[in-house]
Amino acid sequence: MAHLLNRSLHDRYPHAVRAEGVYLYDEQGRRYLDGSSGAGVSCLGHGNPEVLEAMREQGNRVAFASSVFFATDIAEALADDLVRHAPAGMAYASFGCSGSEQVENAMKLARQYHVDTGAPSRRYIIGRRQSYHGMSLATLNAGGHAQRRALYEPMFAGTYLTEPHFAYRYRRPDETADGYSLRAADALEETILQLGPGQVAAFLCEPVVGATTGCVPGSPVYFQRVREICDRYNVLLIFDEIFCGMGRTGTLYAAEQDGVVPDMFVLAKGLAGGYQPMSALLINARIHAGVRDGRGYIANGHTYMNHPVGCAAALKVQEIMRRDGLVARARARGHYLRGRLEAVFGDHPHVGDIRGRGLMQALELVQDRPRKTPFPPELALWSKVMQAALERGLMCYPNQGTADGQQGDHVILAPPYIVSEADCDEMVAILADALDAVLPARDAAAVNAAR
Ligand SMILES: Cc1ncc(COP(=O)(O)O)c(C=O)c1O
Repeated sequence: MAHLLNRSLHDRYPHAVRAEGVYLYDEQGRRYLDGSSGAGVSCLGHGNPEVLEAMREQGNRVAFASSVFFATDIAEALADDLVRHAPAGMAYASFGCSGSEQVENAMKLARQYHVDTGAPSRRYIIGRRQSYHGMSLATLNAGGHAQRRALYEPMFAGTYLTEPHFAYRYRRPDETADGYSLRAADALEETILQLGPGQVAAFLCEPVVGATTGCVPGSPVYFQRVREICDRYNVLLIFDEIFCGMGRTGTLYAAEQDGVVPDMFVLAKGLAGGYQPMSALLINARIHAGVRDGRGYIANGHTYMNHPVGCAAALKVQEIMRRDGLVARARARGHYLRGRLEAVFGDHPHVGDIRGRGLMQALELVQDRPRKTPFPPELALWSKVMQAALERGLMCYPNQGTADGQQGDHVILAPPYIVSEADCDEMVAILADALDAVLPARDAAAVNAAR
């Protein structure tokens, strides 16, 4: 009797029956070190009693009150909390359940803002190749994850992709780091001009790209130029910090490290740490004023908007992160993890690049290191790494299409912020062992020699 529609219709998944701290346990009693926080979610680790208690308390008071009829104290408190700790300029917040839902809300709000302020021709959203913004039709289309998009391409309209910022793959040998950043940013201007400057509503991007290319940061030079271009053409700037936000990179917002404030932030995973499905949209006063003085209401809404129990979970997660200094801890542990990755994989013949910020680190796997040649996609190396790591008791987050959307593999490590240095050591050791197991045998010898 198995009626649950799992992701794979062939494989049998272990059942997670218990979770505590940085570990999950299956029905056989096997223990898994959560080296990826699921997919960048469980920032506080599992089973935090204070968060569970806050949810229970809120559930006893009001578990659900439709946002059509009511506001709640808890949703107001969470909005106040987020705005108070957000980069200057952010002024209002609303809450939903998934990242995709919230990115799509941001895209729709960008369109509404322009219509409400007298520019109804602005309809295009520009995203970037090799980025990811969600699995709804509109967010898939605004993202550049080629494999996830492929099935649905015939259903897409209204968004366009520009260049990513991906120095390992696209910086020319004769270019400085800043020179490359400026060239990548100027591609946005070209795309805006191609579409017609009066037609573009917003530019959407991840300050540190997560799933698609594996922890690829922008740079202050890149984002400052992007901000200038957006301002020049009255294009709204939306930062998708669903993965990289809420402390994951060692600052509460990843964009703080680039010194740029967007018009909207989208948050999710680390917001409520997986205790509830929660996402947030933060907007600045300019967007709020445009809509307030336009039609006066948000022409978009979802049933579970501002869900009280979700808000209670998120508020408690944020309070604990502050009280326990977990963002600084993510920064320190990220530094340690990066050091371990460099020590173990720095000379590895099949690790082309080690990159990331804070506790969002990745290895890009290559067949030929000097030439940066990816492994053939048919090998499905990413999936073999995931399986081999899982068999050895480690959850990591590999993906494919890293190099150009089709080819290439990377592995993300993004553990909970409560992770210890010993946990980091264990994670890296298991990953090294898993890589040995899946790389061709002749290469394993070279790997061992390099270690
Ligand atoms: C950067 C980014 N944007 C959007 C999403 C989509 O979020 P969700 O899966 O909650 O819809 C994800 C999920 O991995 C993400 O990492």
